[in-house]
Parts: sequence; structure tokens; C-alpha cells
Amino acid sequence: MAYETILVEVKGKVGVITLNRPQALNALNGQLIGEVNAAMDGFEKDPAIGCMVVTGSEKAFAAGADIKEMQSRTFPETYLDDKFEPWERIGQRRKPIIAAVAGFALGGGCELAMMCDFIIAADNAKFGQPEINLGVIPGAGGTQRLTHAIGKAKAMDLCLTGRLMDVNEAERAGLVARIVPLADLMAETMKAADAIAAKSLPSVLMAKESINRAFEVTLAEGLRFERRVFSSLFATQDQKEGMAAFTEKRKPDFKNG
Ligand code: HXC
Repeated sequence: MAYETILVEVKGKVGVITLNRPQALNALNGQLIGEVNAAMDGFEKDPAIGCMVVTGSEKAFAAGADIKEMQSRTFPETYLDDKFEPWERIGQRRKPIIAAVAGFALGGGCELAMMCDFIIAADNAKFGQPEINLGVIPGAGGTQRLTHAIGKAKAMDLCLTGRLMDVNEAERAGLVARIVPLADLMAETMKAADAIAAKSLPSVLMAKESINRAFEVTLAEGLRFERRVFSSLFATQDQKEGMAAFTEKRKPDFKNG
């Protein structure tokens, strides 16, 4: 498929999606979100892919949903055309996704980064939910995922004032997993993605699913779910291989089965 708003590459076992609307600081229009989903559909189906990466430019991961596209929309259009369904699909992917964030991750850009499983951020990254400055509120998870990630006090501060948060504050608050120098962002992200892609895919998918359960259910339910999933992995050859490799002091050779 020929994409116009993203670049798509396969590097080893990692599928890399680069948001590519530099003239608009990677503002997320409908076409771009559609193309991200199409690329992710391909990576999800491809058994050779073990991890995905979403990134932007050095100046902007994404400066938000495309304001010029949204500007003239009415309530019925916004409500009835289910504009959010394609956004939601990004957050429902089974394979792990790392967001490699440099520059601005604002509004829908911050929300897109939060739909990924974790964020590796360059030292120039800035996060925020400035929708309040436009007379609206976050619409793709900002009031929910941000609150889960950084707690009520900071989520209220960011969403109500619209201020931006630098990368150090974002890491302290728990939004960002790691900060790396801008020049090393992709190398460090690819190291993490390669490491994930080298694991047994069933165990990776189940670890992701179990962690995400923590946001949906009570602790007791989550612990029960984790125990069942843990037990089920003993039905895989990869569990035999992983534990044999440990006792034989060699690297495991996982076959995803
Ligand atoms: C459309 C955008 C845009 C956006 C930037 N641009 N952000 N276009 N939608 N979200 C465009 C500008 O209009 C400009 O185009 C070009 O990108 C460069 O931007 P500048 O503003 O000139 O750059 P700079 O001065 O460096 O300022 C950077 C910035 C600022 C601070 C990031 O661009 C900004 O505040 N952007 C909007 C951030 C925002 O409010 N995001 C939330 C959007 S609402 P021209 O043609 O003039 O050169 C949202 C809701 C999500 O995300 C709901 C989910 C569906």
C-alpha cells in the first residue's frame, strides 16, 4: 500500500511507523490515523513481526489532532461518524508498540503516545493536553489514560491549564519509561524493540494483556487472570525452551509456539 502521511519500514522483526506530515508538525488527520491502522493491521498479521514502533520527527511526535480538519465540524458529524473508532483500534492492538517521542506530543499526539505500551522519550520531548485552549477537551483518552498514568493532580493541572510538561517532569510523573539523548532516540528504541521481538511472542502478548487488565478489573480478578495466563504458558514449547536454555547456560531459541 502506498502511504502519503506515514513512512513504514520493517527492520528485522520490528515494524516501524514514522508519522510524516512535517508541514503540520504531524497533526493527526483522518487519513493519517487510517494509514497508521492499515500499517498496524499488516504488522499484526505478519508472523515475522514481534514489536512495533511509532515515531515522528525531531521537532514533533505529533502536535495533536488536525485542528484545521476539525474546525468546521458540527456536533452531529462529530458524534455520528464514529471518528474515534480508528483511534480506539490503535489502543487495542495485541502486539507491543513502543512510542519513540521527540519534540511535541500534544493533544491527540500525547493520546497516541499513551495508546502505545510505553514511551521512550528524547530529552527535547514535551507533553500536554492543550485542548482546553481550543474550547474543547481531550477526546482520544487524554482525560482517562493520562489520569491512570500520572494521577489526578497532574492530569487536572495539564488538562485544565493546557500547560506543557517537559520530559523530566513526564518521567518523574510516570508517563515516560526512559529519557534518552535526542541523537540516540531511534537507536535506543530499536534496541528495546529488538529485545522484545526476540522473546516468545505468546508470552509477550500475554504479558501485555495481563498488565492492561490491571486498568480494567479489581486486584483480586487481575491476580486470578495473571495466574491462569501464567499457567497456560506451560503449554508452550517456548516455556520448555526458555527454561532448558537457562539450565544449559545458553540463549533460548524461541519459535513462538
Ligand atoms: C493542524 C497544526 C497543528 C494541529 C501545528 N500545526 N499543530 N495544524 N493541527 N494540531 C501547523 C501550524 O498551523 C503551522 O502550519 C505548522 O503546523 C507549524 O506550526 P507552528 O504553530 O507555526 O509551530 P510553532 O510556532 O513551533 O508552535 C508549535 C506548537 C503549535 C506549540 C506545537 O503548533 C501548537 O500549539 N499547535 C497546536 C497544539 C494543539 O492545540 N494540539 C491539540 C489539538 S486538539 P502553517 O500552515 O501555519 O505553517 C486535539 C484533540 C484530540 O488533539 C481529540 C482526538 C480526536
